[in-house]
Amino acid sequence: MNSFQSVRDLLHVWQPEMPVYCVYPHVYIDSTQHFLRGFPGRVLYAVKANDDPAVVRMMHQAGVTDFDCASLPEIALVNENCPGATCFFMVPVRLRGAARIAQEKYGVRHFVVDHPKGLELLAGEIDMQRSVVFARMAVHHNSAIYDLSSKFGAPLKEIPGLIKEIADLGAEPALAFNVGSSVRSPDAYRHALGVAADVLTELPFRLRLVDIGGGYPRSYPGYVMPPLDDYFAAIREGIRDLPLAEGGEILGEPGRALAAPGLTALTEVLLRKDDRLYINDGLYGIFWELRFEGHNRYPVRAYRNGQPLNGGEQRSFRLFGPTCDSTDILPGAVDLPAEIDTGDYLEFGNIGAYSLGGRTRFNGHFSDNIVHIDGKDELPPV
Ligand SMILES: Cc1ncc(COP(=O)(O)O)c(C=O)c1O
Repeated sequence: MNSFQSVRDLLHVWQPEMPVYCVYPHVYIDSTQHFLRGFPGRVLYAVKANDDPAVVRMMHQAGVTDFDCASLPEIALVNENCPGATCFFMVPVRLRGAARIAQEKYGVRHFVVDHPKGLELLAGEIDMQRSVVFARMAVHHNSAIYDLSSKFGAPLKEIPGLIKEIADLGAEPALAFNVGSSVRSPDAYRHALGVAADVLTELPFRLRLVDIGGGYPRSYPGYVMPPLDDYFAAIREGIRDLPLAEGGEILGEPGRALAAPGLTALTEVLLRKDDRLYINDGLYGIFWELRFEGHNRYPVRAYRNGQPLNGGEQRSFRLFGPTCDSTDILPGAVDLPAEIDTGDYLEFGNIGAYSLGGRTRFNGHFSDNIVHIDGKDELPPV
């Protein structure tokens, strides 16, 4: 692992041909602690958003003690890197045998189902008596960019039956939902918590745990979201009237909100053709999330000869990835100094969520250069 005080220092001693991904530890610690202070419940970091071991360790160091895992490798990663942490296996369809190993080898006690057959499969692998099993209900709000209820989640009318079956099999039943990812309005949580309150009220017994999932957004250029504090306020309001058992608790599974802020991607301009910049990373690499609906660019700053290149005339540029594929074009144009040219570097900020995990080897391009920027006054582009 290489550490530098700043990107300027890095470029002073190294002009990397391949992209370099820069972790800013103090940014991760600060932003995670802000989330922990504001969220009115227990925070489970959704490891899928960024599973770099150092980033996962930073979440733990910042105070996250619980992790939302989607697979055995994610559970193993948390186990190795975060001593004493608790893993929740929060995906309703798992590889055969994965729940058994999660419980026997890693002591996992929390699982989720959204179908009676899925419950039967789970019950065949784990000791239900020492487990908590969430019934995931489908709930969507049109302010979510990605609908996470079109694939998983039982229809509302099936939830009471599923909860009863979980209890009959000896596990503690709980309720889970996911309003979506990149949720644009806090109303989505108000709405879902209202639905949850109706479901909970109808049950013949009180549940202790409600997992309200992920979806807490980040702002990107041209894609400005309400502040996280507005979401926390909506959730605080929504849980006030939730009928829960004694010792009841709300859980949340933020991915993007925790993973995005502390990582940047440092790329080189390989060629300039007028207002087109061909760079050494693209949609098959760190920028893969830009294929989907949502934000279309990241904040960016330029460097020449190891120094920030700013001031002067600005111009709008289109960015092209390094592969032969003609769809490997970043969707959003970015404003940069008009003099930008071949050999300059571009650092993209706020890129820590759903980026490292999506890199492919397409066309033979793959970078695993990950460094730390330790200067306490250094901030990523925003
Ligand atoms: C079950 C579950 N929890 C949490 C998340 C994290 O969502 P976000 O990154 O929007 O917070 C996801 C995202 O896909 C998810 O599927």
